[in-house]
Amino acid sequence: MSEGMNSGICTVVLGCQWGDEGKGKIVDVLAEDVHVVARYQGGANAGHTVHVGEDEFILHQIPSGILYPGKRCLLGNGVVIDALGFGEEYDGLEARGIAVEGRVGVSQKAHLVMPYHRLLDQVSEDHAEQKIGTTGRGIGPAYEEKAGRSGLRVCDLAHPDRAAALVEKGVERACRRAKLLGGELSQDIGAMVEEAVLAGERLNGLATDTGLEILDALRGGKDVLLEGAQGTALDLDHGTYPFVTSSNTTAGGAATGSGIGPTAIDVVIGVVKAYTTRVGNGPLPTGFEPEMNEHFRELGGEFGATTGRPRRCGWFDVVLARYSARVNGLTGLAVTKLDVLDTLPEISIATAYRTPRSEVHEFPADTWQLGEVEPVYETLPGWEAPTQEARTLSDLPDAARRYLDRIEELTETPVQMVSVGTRRSQIIRL
Ligand code: IMP
Ligand code: MG
Repeated sequence: MSEGMNSGICTVVLGCQWGDEGKGKIVDVLAEDVHVVARYQGGANAGHTVHVGEDEFILHQIPSGILYPGKRCLLGNGVVIDALGFGEEYDGLEARGIAVEGRVGVSQKAHLVMPYHRLLDQVSEDHAEQKIGTTGRGIGPAYEEKAGRSGLRVCDLAHPDRAAALVEKGVERACRRAKLLGGELSQDIGAMVEEAVLAGERLNGLATDTGLEILDALRGGKDVLLEGAQGTALDLDHGTYPFVTSSNTTAGGAATGSGIGPTAIDVVIGVVKAYTTRVGNGPLPTGFEPEMNEHFRELGGEFGATTGRPRRCGWFDVVLARYSARVNGLTGLAVTKLDVLDTLPEISIATAYRTPRSEVHEFPADTWQLGEVEPVYETLPGWEAPTQEARTLSDLPDAARRYLDRIEELTETPVQMVSVGTRRSQIIRL
């Protein structure tokens, strides 16, 4: 329990690898018992896949909690909102029978991603010597403008003249920047911007103080879930810089990005996949050789939910998981996609990295050093049996339990949830 008068429980759910850990599924499971679900960073670069019955939903901006009737869903100030994409997502959910009206709030302080940010993101990638492999959603340029103090916020939308001036300057800057990079923005930029500003009117109608709403809910004894996007290794400060996203994906970001103080947070659940994946550029120490990589990609369906790009796959990396436990102050782990390992005769875990000079146990700050390490593996027997029907720990094969025990031991963090399939019911809660 947190201190003070709060009586509801505030839980952060975040990724501990390079994103795509299955946070959407875990949030969906936990959302049943909470009143408010809030996103705190990132934008339409995220892709949270949730299965409800026979239906599959891919959410990019609206929190996964929207799929449970009656939950209030917020986009915090740390999120960058793509007005056009947001509108499409909102309408798409309604069209599929999800009652969205009155349930979504966006922070007055959240910044907008405009078409010129998206175009600039693409021009930057096309002309960069060092390609990051971004999702091309304008995330980096939007956060650059935020940090540069020239961004357009939701609260500006209530003042059309102010918004128009900010947009005009934004277009100018983006055009100049694109030219410097050796490219140009599309001729249609004027029309695109106009459309985005129109779409922004809807955001204006949903504007709220997310921090206040969250604290009011907690004070009223209601539980709150803060939903992270991407993962710890993609955090702007703590990830594999520069191959990162432009926001703080880690637990501290949950406080700044939603508008509450860190002492209001009670629980931090780190989501880890039972193996590792990465999409976009940058090192992946435990990455497989091509043949195994292909095999895993098929087993786990490892293709990006936002871009469809194939993900690189590798063994579970304890060095990263322990680092994530530390920088996020994890109180527990949720292990996902355990069932993907069902057919393997042997499973490895990286317990340390070897460098030319020594063996390291801490995740290196220098991304180029990380690119040169050789993982030290411990190999465990596989279980070679299906786990998708398991609902308690004792339903799992011994070898699967040993694998989870080993993860718990090495990360020094209790495993509290295990996901064994895409459906809501395919979960073991400890
Ligand atoms: P950006 O966030 O689009 O700027 O992309 C920066 C890096 O983060 C790239 O490597 C992307 O592939 C990665 N990334 C961004 N969002 C996600 C996500 O939701 N899942 C996995 N990787 C992501
Ligand atoms: Mg994803």
